[in-house]
Amino acid sequence: MRIDIITGLPGMLDSFLNQSILKRAQDKKIVEIFIHDLRNYTTDKHRQIDDYAFGGGAGMVMMIEPIAKCINVLLGERTYDEVIYMTPDGKNFNQRAANRLSLLKNIIILCGHYKGVDERVRQKFITSEISIGDYVLSGGELAAAVVSDAIIRLIPGVISDETSALTDSFQDDLLAPPVYTRPASYEGLEVPEILLSGHEKKIEEWRYNQSIERTKERRPDLIK
Ligand code: 6GU
Repeated sequence: MRIDIITGLPGMLDSFLNQSILKRAQDKKIVEIFIHDLRNYTTDKHRQIDDYAFGGGAGMVMMIEPIAKCINVLLGERTYDEVIYMTPDGKNFNQRAANRLSLLKNIIILCGHYKGVDERVRQKFITSEISIGDYVLSGGELAAAVVSDAIIRLIPGVISDETSALTDSFQDDLLAPPVYTRPASYEGLEVPEILLSGHEKKIEEWRYNQSIERTKERRPDLIK
């Protein structure tokens, strides 16, 4: 998979995407991530990427020209399955969306900033718009990082224990069961007996029941 992220603040993404699981996925060549600095697609001496809104009002609007130039370079190099715009008025992101995107080959993610992008960028280039929740961030970079992480960890081979992504909370609309490790007893707090029993079948059954109980208690909206 190849992910091209377009941003006015490349530094916000660099460090995040080059750590831990996402770094390993890139080292193993399972995913390639390219961060494109919008200022490299400007032509004026101030390298300006935003301007005042027509009609007035507070806040700057990201200009179409640098964005178009960057996207057109990429579209000229390969075909993309999706050109995604990160915006609080986009469609709410969830595990189902992560699963779908993890199957794609090439995607572009455009990060909005300030008051957002000129509407014509959305008309001309964007194929889907994603929000990561009902709150406002100062830019789309953190949201793009969230979405990239959620997608990449689902690609086979990225997580060493292949079954582990399948047992995550939400993977089948259930929250994950509680987990424990050594010591078996800590200041009077005991690990449930069943987990020490070695009965694989019963342990699986216990975990499933715990998942159901947890979901009913914390997220009844997920139970059909
Ligand atoms: Cl994708 N962008 C911004 N700026 N704020 C958000 C968001 C995205 N998703 C939730 N809040």
